[in-house]
This record gives sequence, C-alpha cells and structure tokens, in this order.
Amino acid sequence: MQTLTRRQLLQTSGALVAAPLLVQSGIKSAQAATLDLSKLKRVKQKLVAPPAVPKHDQVAHGAPKIIEVRLVAEEKQITIDGDGTKIWAMTFNGTVPGPMIVCHQDDYVELTLVNPESNTLEHNIDLHASTGSLGGGGLSHVLPGEEATFRFKATKAGVFCYHCAPGGEMIPLHVTSGMAGTIMVLPRNGLTDANGNSVTYDKVWHIGEQDYYVPKDEDGNFKSYDELADAMSDTFDIMREFVPSHVVIGGSAFAYTGDNALKSKVGETVLIVHMQANNPSQPHLIGGHGDLVWADGSFESPPRSGLETYWLAGGSAGAMLYTFRQPGLYVYLNHNLIKAILAGAAAHIQVAGKWDDDLMTQVKKAGPIMN
Ligand code: CU
Ligand code: CU
Repeated sequence: MQTLTRRQLLQTSGALVAAPLLVQSGIKSAQAATLDLSKLKRVKQKLVAPPAVPKHDQVAHGAPKIIEVRLVAEEKQITIDGDGTKIWAMTFNGTVPGPMIVCHQDDYVELTLVNPESNTLEHNIDLHASTGSLGGGGLSHVLPGEEATFRFKATKAGVFCYHCAPGGEMIPLHVTSGMAGTIMVLPRNGLTDANGNSVTYDKVWHIGEQDYYVPKDEDGNFKSYDELADAMSDTFDIMREFVPSHVVIGGSAFAYTGDNALKSKVGETVLIVHMQANNPSQPHLIGGHGDLVWADGSFESPPRSGLETYWLAGGSAGAMLYTFRQPGLYVYLNHNLIKAILAGAAAHIQVAGKWDDDLMTQVKKAGPIMN
C-alpha cells in the first residue's frame, strides 16, 4: 500500500465498508416511533479514564433507564513504552482502552459517536453487548466532522468488549491502534455467586490489554511517523506476521506501575474487568486468586471459584472478584510471561494493611546452606 492522501483514505475506507465481508443490506434504523420510551428516566453517564469506572449502583433501582453516553474518536500520537516509542493511536475519548460504559440489564444505552473535523479517518463502534446492525457498527459510521447517535437495549448481563470496525482491513488496524473498550451490563439485582447468593464489590478496575504492531527501521529501531497515513503500509506488514511488538495493560508498557500502581487494602473486594479485543489472554494475579471468576464475561452463567489463571478469548472481556488478605505488592498480568514481562502486559497493585502470619510467614531468611 502506498502513502495515501486524507481524501484517498476516506474513499478507501468507504469502499471497504461495502465489501462483501460487511454487506449492510437489511439494516434498518431504530423504529423510535413504535417504542414508548418517553416515560423512562434519562441519565447522562459521565465516562472516566481507565482503570476507573463510572459511578454506578450495583443493584438497579426502579424501572430500566436510558443511559446517554458520548464517545469521541480521537486520533493522536501516544508513547507506548519507556524507550519513547510513538504510535498514531486511534482512541475512544483519548485513552487506551476507551472508557467503560456501565448499565443494568434491560436498560437502553443511547450512544453518540463524534468524529472531530481534525481527524483523518472514518470511525464507528461495534458493541458486543448489543443486538443487530453489526453491533451498532452499521448505524454509527462517522466521517471527520460528523456525529451519529443510536440506541440499543442491553439484553444480556455481563462484561463485553466494544471496538471500532469501520470495514475491511481498517477493522484490525483500528482495533490494534487502541480503539477498544468495555461495557459492563450488571444484572438488575446485582452479581451472585454460583449458589445465587448476592455478591458485592468495593471497587472496579477496568483493565484493557492491547497489542500493538510497530514497524522497525533497518537498524532494528522502532519507527515513528509524522502522519497517521504514513504509518499504515509498514504497520500492515507487521500485522501480517501476527507477532505484536508490544502487549500492554493501560495503553503503554507497564502503565500501572510505580506511582501509577493500582491501590487497594486488606479486606477490600475488587472486581477486575479484563478486556482484550484482538488476542486471547491469560489473566492472573500473582500472590492472590480469583475468588469468583466470570471467565467468559457472562453474568448469566455461574462464576467459577478459586481460580489461579483463566482463559480470556480474544474479542471479549472477563471479570475476576477478589478480596485482598495480605498487604504488599501484587502483580496482575497476562500469564503468557513473555507478553507480560518482555512486551509490557503487567500491572502492579499496592495493598495496604496488616500482614497475616497464618497465611504466610518467612521461616528462615536466605543464608549459607547449613547441611
Ligand atoms: Cu476507528
Ligand atoms: Cu467485535
């Protein structure tokens, strides 16, 4: 592929939308006139940067609501590792992953996708929690300078990934450039364990794992590009080799370490939601467990208990509930340790509190071998 002008790019992505892979025949706009949603309460959800999640009730109060959310497609250069490697990221609201959307089952989500005039490419959004029209992808195509709004009913309870899917080869390019996030659809009565007992959490962390494919120059150094369009041809070459140059948590390698480590305390229960839109992962908490794990993300299936590591399918989100019992440093990572340690998919958790000697104690410090 040669370097394309902005105009050619828009024409290209437009043509790809019409490719046989994603024929949009049979798609209809929402029949707003036939639905009486006028009595439902409308709530504007304030989206926040990950790993934080929007304020929400764990148990729904009253009738289903209409949750209004606004996502802005932002194309921007970001630094993705400690060596200063820069890529042209494609983001929702400026972060990788995009912000978490939270609602309850049977709520309606009314989503506005904005594509600012300053952008180069066409974008849209496919939410795995929705039903119909390519997950909303068919109703949300926006060119630079446009916005579009569609509404869907959250019929399935669980954690689901969402991502941009503008058509053809632009789909993997946008997803591996950072354009993915998570929507959490809670059961109206909140979470339950395998016996149907109510389960609550003190906080949620939204963990987005992201694979990047950064081209190298003849000397083996990562290349950066002045314009998004300039990077495309080389990036597709690396993508076709299937080997990511970076696999990160929180947008850049080891983003949640040092001063940015995740923080908890002994006795606190955290729901760790993990999303990977493009590749499988093996989420694991070093020094702890998944007390309850919804490995495939469905809150309609009983969670499994006491897991060390779980399989997460590429193109999905999963959730792990854990109550911290010991203070100190934990590492939360993809237990493909090459991806975690060499590529960047590891986070630190600093837990405050009082040590429990019963759970673990040092019997003898390292020293000379005595016999
Ligand atoms: Cu996009
Ligand atoms: Cu998808």
